[in-house]
Amino acid sequence: MTEAPAEAHGHKVAAMFGRIARWYDFLNRLLSLGQDVWWRYRLVRAVNPPPDGLVLDLAAGTLDVSVELLRQHPDLRVAALDFTLPMLAVGRERKLKGARAERIFPVQADGRALPLPDASVDAVTIAFGIRNIKPRAEAYAEILRVLKPGGRLCVLEFGTGSRRVWKGLYNFYLDKLLPAIGRLVSRDEGAYRYLADTIRAFPDERALARELLEAGFAKVCHLPMLSGIVFLHVAGKAD
Ligand SMILES: C[S@@+](CC[C@H](N)C(=O)[O-])C[C@H]1O[C@@H](n2cnc3c(N)ncnc32)[C@H](O)[C@@H]1O
Repeated sequence: MTEAPAEAHGHKVAAMFGRIARWYDFLNRLLSLGQDVWWRYRLVRAVNPPPDGLVLDLAAGTLDVSVELLRQHPDLRVAALDFTLPMLAVGRERKLKGARAERIFPVQADGRALPLPDASVDAVTIAFGIRNIKPRAEAYAEILRVLKPGGRLCVLEFGTGSRRVWKGLYNFYLDKLLPAIGRLVSRDEGAYRYLADTIRAFPDERALARELLEAGFAKVCHLPMLSGIVFLHVAGKAD
């Protein structure tokens, strides 16, 4: 029996992140020249949760956003969900020490079927994850279901790579350098070619804003970073 396209895509993505999990943090720092730390800082600044609230960090990967959430809000609890177990395992092994281990809860789960009750979380973060989920509408519906009224979804994602940035220098980096560096370090050119391809195919910030509004979010706004290479999107659930 053949798999449905969304299931096949999910398995492909999980297998790919599983292969690069131990290189993931190092390559993030290297390929963004350390900018990714700043982007996650800005993402978490936008979250604005109640001091002892519960935040869902979706597509949590190796837990960088979860850790930053706790750094800025030490009394939070963070449900760190991702469907690639090796990514969560690397994060737990390297980053969950002391108080963090008592407040960050890594759980393997698919963003299209969240194991959380309705209206149970104060805010949701997703950094560089929504681009990988197909269909995105299923994740939006689940996020809206688990968010409390008035809660926020904060998304960090690349802008579309089909727009020329820095006179095409960024596009050259995306198409040629990134897969080559990915291959050299992780020996997995495919994973970094997938990264370039999905960035190029991703909707621009206005299309994404429309998509969020159509999904049922209110008060949608976005902020460009690094000449629009990355965007922070904030969307609210109506009260
Ligand atoms: C580029 S990583 C981002 C990790 C982390 N948020 C960060 O900022 O570094 C994307 C993550 O999304 C996860 N992911 C992709 N599709 C998913 C889905 N349907 N449900 C849950 N996690 C998913 C992958 O397993 C991977 O860990």
